[in-house]
Amino acid sequence: MPKKMTSLNLAPLAGFTDKSFRALCLEFGADAVTTEMVSAKALTFGDKKSLRLAIPADPRCAVQLFGSEPAIIQEAAWIVAALSPAAIDINMGCPVPKVVGNGEGSALMRNPALICRIVEAARTCGLPVTVKLRAGIDGVKNAPECARAAQAGGASAVTIHGRLREQMYQPGTVDKAIIAAVKQAVSIPVYANGDIATPADMADMLWETGADGVMIGRAALGNPAVFRELAGGVPADAAERMALCCRHIAAMVADKGEGLAMREARAHLCWYLRGLHGAAALRAKAVQLETFSQFEALMEEVEHLWTE
Ligand SMILES: Cc1cc2nc3c(=O)[nH]c(=O)nc-3n(C[C@H](O)[C@H](O)[C@H](O)COP(=O)(O)O)c2cc1C
Repeated sequence: MPKKMTSLNLAPLAGFTDKSFRALCLEFGADAVTTEMVSAKALTFGDKKSLRLAIPADPRCAVQLFGSEPAIIQEAAWIVAALSPAAIDINMGCPVPKVVGNGEGSALMRNPALICRIVEAARTCGLPVTVKLRAGIDGVKNAPECARAAQAGGASAVTIHGRLREQMYQPGTVDKAIIAAVKQAVSIPVYANGDIATPADMADMLWETGADGVMIGRAALGNPAVFRELAGGVPADAAERMALCCRHIAAMVADKGEGLAMREARAHLCWYLRGLHGAAALRAKAVQLETFSQFEALMEEVEHLWTE
C-alpha cells in the first residue's frame, strides 16, 4: 500500500461516531477521529449522557464541543481535558435550526470576533483546539475570515465543509474554491470536507484546494474500510462489509448494553445494507430490531443474498 501523504480524518456524525465506530475507522487507517458534537453547557451541568459522549477512548480522538459562550466553552474544555483527548474541536458548522437559533454551530460564522474568543477560551485548558466551519452562512462565504479568526485565537487546524449553512447537505453544492481560499488565508493545516467518497473524489479535492488532508463523513457509514480504500488499498466487498457490521454491532452491545445498542444500531445497519440486492425490504426489518439475536437472524438472511 502506498505511503499516505495526507491526513484522513473521520468527521463527527451525531448518532453514529461512537467509540465502536471510531475504533473500526482507526483500524482501517483513519488518522484522527472525533466524537459527535457534545453540548458545552450540558457538560458544565454534569449531564451524564454528555459526559459519556465526551469519553475519547483512544488518544487519536478529539472531542467536539458546541456552544456560543466563551466562559462556558472554557469550563467545558477543562472538564474534557481531564479525559485526555487528542484535541478539542469546536462545532461552527451545524445547520440545525435549534442550534443556529441559540447562536451556536454555523451561527458563529456571523461573528468572527466571537470565534477568536471561543478558541482562546478553549485553549486555556492546554489541549490543541481545532474548529470545523462551513463555507459560510446567510449567503456569505466568509470561511477565510472565520479561519483567520480561529487561527488568531490559537487554533491548530481548521476543517471546512464546503457548503453554506442553508445548503445543508444538498448534492452538488460543495465549493472547493472556498476551501482553496481558506488554505491561502491561514498557515495552520486545513482539512477539506464534503462529498468525498472515492479515491478520485479525494484526489480532486486535494488538487483543487491544496488542503492538508480530508475529513470523511457519510462515505464511512456502513463502510469503515473506506479509509483503507482512500489510502490506496482494496475496497471492501459486500461480504467484508457485512462481517464488519457484525463486529461493529457486537462491540456496541458490549459497550452500551443490548437495549440502547440495538436502537442505535438500526441506523448503522441501514447504511451497511445500502447497495445490496433487496436492501429496501431488509431495511424495513432493520429499523425494527430489538435484540442482538434478531440482528443475527437478519444477517443470515443477508448472507443468502450473495451466496445463493
Ligand atoms: C447524520 C449526520 C450527523 C452529523 N453530525 C455532526 C456533528 O455532530 N458535528 C459536526 O461538526 N458535523 C456533523 N455533521 C456534518 C459532517 O461532519 C460533515 O461535515 C458532512 O456530513 C459533510 O461531509 P460528508 O459529505 O463526507 O458526509 C453531521 C452530518 C450528518 C449527515
